[in-house]
Amino acid sequence: MEQVKVLLQDREIPQKWYNIVADLPTPMKPPLHPGTGQPVTPGDLAAIFPMNIIEQEASGKRWIKIPDEVLQKYLLWRPSPLYRAYNFEKLLNCPVKIYYKNEGVSPAGSHKPNAAVPMAYYNKVAGTKRIVTETGAGQWGSALSMATQMFGLACRVYMVKISYEQKPYRRMMMNTWGAECIPSPSNLTQAGRNVLAEHPDSPGSLGIAISEAIEEAVTTPGSRYALGSVLNHVLLYQTIIGLEAQKQMQKIGVYPDVVMGCCGGGSNFAGIALPYVCDKIHGKDVKIVGAEPSSCPSMTKGPFAYDFGDLAKTTPLLPMYTLGHDYIPAPIHAGGLRYHGMAPIVSHLVREKFIEARAYDQLKTFDAGVKWARTEGFIPAPETNHVLAAVVDETMRAKEEGKEKVILFNWSGHGLVDLSSYDAYLSGKLQAYELPDHEIDRALNAIKNFPKP
Ligand SMILES: Cc1ncc(COP(=O)(O)O)c(C=O)c1O
Repeated sequence: MEQVKVLLQDREIPQKWYNIVADLPTPMKPPLHPGTGQPVTPGDLAAIFPMNIIEQEASGKRWIKIPDEVLQKYLLWRPSPLYRAYNFEKLLNCPVKIYYKNEGVSPAGSHKPNAAVPMAYYNKVAGTKRIVTETGAGQWGSALSMATQMFGLACRVYMVKISYEQKPYRRMMMNTWGAECIPSPSNLTQAGRNVLAEHPDSPGSLGIAISEAIEEAVTTPGSRYALGSVLNHVLLYQTIIGLEAQKQMQKIGVYPDVVMGCCGGGSNFAGIALPYVCDKIHGKDVKIVGAEPSSCPSMTKGPFAYDFGDLAKTTPLLPMYTLGHDYIPAPIHAGGLRYHGMAPIVSHLVREKFIEARAYDQLKTFDAGVKWARTEGFIPAPETNHVLAAVVDETMRAKEEGKEKVILFNWSGHGLVDLSSYDAYLSGKLQAYELPDHEIDRALNAIKNFPKP
């Protein structure tokens, strides 16, 4: 019998998150205040986030202790299992060993609760009564709904309209956990009304939903905003994935040649990758690859530039690979990957060549996802299918190169609430979207006068 799972005991859960900022060989560019062009100060962010989270966002400390209250909630599903995908390996018939972290075992079905739980906790400690957020596919919104309920906070979620319509069960999950879910763009905010006036049939985007959530948070007493990806503190909380993976791989005496994840705003990929980037910075030979959709190819086609995180220009200017803040991605089924920018930390590491990026169209990703479901059993989220396409691709490269490789990747979530997208794929209704260059040029026009990083 071959060992399929590597498990950690509750007492072996990592007690600290890892902050890559402490180990970067070259410093990152700071976020800028759009009015002054100067680096943002903690005070600039205080209307949006509580101070304890702002301190972590700006922290240069290598290790940050995970509060006991957060660890206790993490233990409901963590440490997550590390699997060896023997059946998928057999199907691919190539010289690879494929290991993956199964983040689909969390109550909300993805990696998102790793960040939602500490955010709800720190807000509770800081006196916040209610959190407002946005969600793409509904994974983040459902995770935060669960986490806010755990700590006795109210929660409202602006959900990208196309996903709200495609994924009604995510809304029902949010309602079950006691949160409100509003399709975005909505009439409840000025940002939403502006979009609807110009595009009454707008499918929405993460950039629009973020604008709505921030506007409401800063204008409602007792409310704060929470972002499910992109920012440093979110990536920090997700490092629990990679830290567990390192302990698990150590237990079986294996070190990966390649570490992979799918990329929307960059949080699950960073979660598994950053502890390995640390190894790479200190001389380890490990390839680290992020997979994004070809319809929203920020890292593979966008420039590294200062840009807003949202359509209404309410966030600071972030140094990142971007397609322009008014870029509205095609309505692909991986709603969680429809974001115009990439996390500044991930962007910096791509720029410094510690990380490679690759783009895949949705037909390729569903092909890989269905192969996975028919071999390994678990049905992946449409977002997760992007890393599966990258794993297939890397496996074929190994075959061509005649090299044996160990691949480790993050299986970011299950697709049991996304079955309508599988239905569309299996009945031949999905299209392969490629982004035309003129659309990138149009969207980038909006940022041409911004400061350059
Ligand atoms: C299952 C799953 N994977 C990946 C992502 C992409 O987000 P991120 O890049 O922040 O991990 C999402 C976003 O909603 C998701 O739900």
